[in-house]
Amino acid sequence: MLSLIISLQKLKGVSVALSYVKIAGTGLSTPPRILSNADLEKMVDTSDEWIRTRTGIVERRIADPEISTSDMAYEASLKALEAASVEPKDIDVIIVATVTPDHLFPSTGCLVQSRLGAKKAFAFDILAGCAGFLYALKTGKAFIDSGDAETVLIVGAETLSRITDFQDRTTCILFGDGAGAVVLRRSETPGILSICLGANGDNWELLYLPAGGSRIPASEESVKKRLHFIRMKGSEVFREAVKAMEASSIEAIKKANITPDKIDLFISHQANYRIMEAVRKRLNIPPEKVFMNVDRYGNTSSASVPIALDEAVKEGKLRQGNIILFAAFGAGFTWGSAVVRW
Ligand SMILES: CC(C)(COP(=O)(O)OP(=O)(O)OC[C@H]1O[C@@H](n2cnc3c(N)ncnc32)[C@H](O)[C@@H]1OP(=O)(O)O)[C@@H](O)C(=O)NCCC(=O)NCCS
Repeated sequence: MLSLIISLQKLKGVSVALSYVKIAGTGLSTPPRILSNADLEKMVDTSDEWIRTRTGIVERRIADPEISTSDMAYEASLKALEAASVEPKDIDVIIVATVTPDHLFPSTGCLVQSRLGAKKAFAFDILAGCAGFLYALKTGKAFIDSGDAETVLIVGAETLSRITDFQDRTTCILFGDGAGAVVLRRSETPGILSICLGANGDNWELLYLPAGGSRIPASEESVKKRLHFIRMKGSEVFREAVKAMEASSIEAIKKANITPDKIDLFISHQANYRIMEAVRKRLNIPPEKVFMNVDRYGNTSSASVPIALDEAVKEGKLRQGNIILFAAFGAGFTWGSAVVRW
């Protein structure tokens, strides 16, 4: 397979010595405004104690009205580009994973492309719920593997507060806003070792946004019925998330040709510390190898994995050669896991 890719790359005139894909830089952007559990106690019938013990969340970030997804995506991208020493003009592809685009169209990817002045890049969005970042990672890697790109900007960005019903205590305590970005580049040494994705649309109604699409366009009635907010059956989603993240992680570990004890850091989608704990135990990963920041950001959907990665980098938790396991699960249902050599 590799030799076939190399032959194709030779034909396309691409440097053939570099045959892997690496994460070359990371960045994040989160809005400054904090919504604490104490604030939520004043809005719905809940308690700090309930939220902490059931989810691990203490506070989350909420974007001010003038900030939208593309603003945070742009800021996170600038930081990731700087960390990777890449100029916007060198980006070949921009992929934004989001369920809260600025507009249904054009894509948030195009808005980021314009703000960056990344004239050479083509750009689009991926909608794969909270697994969106891993779907984007797989897609970005595929462009590099195929020889169509050398440098890909991947962003996970969300303004979930815009689709959160702050009258619904079962969901409003969970979500937050933010963005994380990574730059992918061709490399001589192994970087991304495996990415395994999955989907099951059978249970789509367990987690969805009822209105605003072609099924239920916006109307006075849809607004009155609060159909433009997230609907979720939390405990069912919880069960499926644990099962799917365990299975896809086992698959990704196997495909990367390593054993679970080789994992140095487990960076999961930050939805609920109990979900991460359950997956960790099933995979036999010691607690000190799990990165968590759900306490400070809540669930930021597509943004959660790249935000966590950037914080892990900044906190010095990753050394060259370390093995990272990523896992995520979200609406669709969609899920995925990846093994990356840092
Ligand atoms: C949402 C979630 C935290 C709820 O925790 P849970 O342990 O499953 O709790 P349940 O939904 O079974 O509810 C238990 C009780 O708490 C109540 N409750 C729900 N939200 C509450 C809140 N914010 N404050 C106080 N009580 C609350 C429920 O009404 C229920 O009361 P009842 O027993 O009288 O009916 C949890 O299911 C979860 O995190 N699910 C996954 C969500 C997710 O990650 N979604 C995004 C995709 S990755």
